[in-house]
Amino acid sequence: MTALQTIKATRPLTGEVSIPSDKSISHRALMLSAISDSIIHSHHVIITNLLESEDVFRTLNALRELGVEIRKTDGESWIVKGVGLRGLKQPKKTLYMGNSGTTARLLMGVLAGQDFETVIDGDDSLRNRPMKRVTEPLTLMGARFEFLERDGYLPIKIIGNPNLKPLENYEMPVASAQIKSAILLAGLYADGPTTIKNNESRNHTEFMMTEFNVNIGWDKNRIKLIPNDETGIRAYPLYYYDSQCKRFTIPADPSSAAFFVAASMLVKGSEISLSKVCSNYRRIGFYEVLRYILGCKIKAKDDESDWEDNYKTMTSSYSEIQDKEYVVNAKFAPRMIDEYPILTVLASGIKATTTIKGIEELRVKECDRIDVMVQGLRACGVKVESGDDWMKIYGTGKVKGGATIATHSDHRIAMSFVILGLIADEPITIDDIEPVKTSFPTFFEELKKLGIKYK
Ligand code: S3P
Repeated sequence: MTALQTIKATRPLTGEVSIPSDKSISHRALMLSAISDSIIHSHHVIITNLLESEDVFRTLNALRELGVEIRKTDGESWIVKGVGLRGLKQPKKTLYMGNSGTTARLLMGVLAGQDFETVIDGDDSLRNRPMKRVTEPLTLMGARFEFLERDGYLPIKIIGNPNLKPLENYEMPVASAQIKSAILLAGLYADGPTTIKNNESRNHTEFMMTEFNVNIGWDKNRIKLIPNDETGIRAYPLYYYDSQCKRFTIPADPSSAAFFVAASMLVKGSEISLSKVCSNYRRIGFYEVLRYILGCKIKAKDDESDWEDNYKTMTSSYSEIQDKEYVVNAKFAPRMIDEYPILTVLASGIKATTTIKGIEELRVKECDRIDVMVQGLRACGVKVESGDDWMKIYGTGKVKGGATIATHSDHRIAMSFVILGLIADEPITIDDIEPVKTSFPTFFEELKKLGIKYK
């Protein structure tokens, strides 16, 4: 554990912030590339701007354990030699997922369709996150799961089934991209169309599957995936035609950018620019709330993008947010699920009252993010009320600080309180900043560029 005392901003934050690549897209680029195949040559996939963070390395290492060759080029790219859907090998040891829920849940979808057994495990935080939401639909498809210690939680033995049954009209219990993606990945191994209802969560898996010629279509209510079988034998359900190789360039992560955008709204006179931030509609709920509800000045201009999950360069300028009662409705939740901790920090630092609704899913993230934020903000002198699925923050424009915050191995809790520290009267002590590495290894370097000099 590495503790840290926050530093107050004494002048505006100005300049360019370099935001790391998108975590969700990085996981998917690795996984889909690993099980893809080239129809013409046995070439490889080149991924540029892969997020080189702890969580993404969990996926990378798990795929290596499953027999996939992945290596870094001399430049900034990674090469993945796809082994095809049926080419993975049984790992020699338990696959360790660390803190990464996305690695665990998405890989469960892939492992459900294998002809071997795999054991997966994670750190204490991941061992406390519910897994039945994924094992239940995959069990309906014909995979089997053994909970090795506690019912519904990691460690889990996955007993794969290479002939999975398709899942039709599956009604998602919650708008979760991890559950949806696990089902879609397993659907590649099924012998008929998979359809999922309720589709509001991030859609990077769907987009990336189309890049690999998977027959998949979707609108906001439903997704349909049809494994390719025009040849009668499902030889290449996940393939590409390129005579050379398939390439992906990963945009910057809007969830990571949110910390700096919030900082620019808290520190008077700030103006920052952030380039190539993923602007997929399902990821920009936070920016819509800031622009259209709080009235913040955030401008975006189009950038060129080499695939459909496109990106924009943003400028975010300090804005005088009016002293009013704001309500952020439940409808935003699927499109900004990871941004609520930093939204509550912003709401604490402005002079206004903000009610946030429909956030029950925050209770099963890396920690119970409602409880942990409520306790931390209160300890810093902010008046907050909460219920099962809501929070109400009474911002006064002043934050006392001076408290010690327990991060509970949660990167977004740690970064949120570092940002709150920019305006707190007394430094806030963060008990452990190590978790920041899971999604934003360069967080403190970027703050340093803006004059907040952490050693
Ligand atoms: C993610 C989906 C979300 C999000 C997580 C990343 C993904 O989780 O909170 O950080 O990459 O699919 P849920 O699917 O549980 O909502």
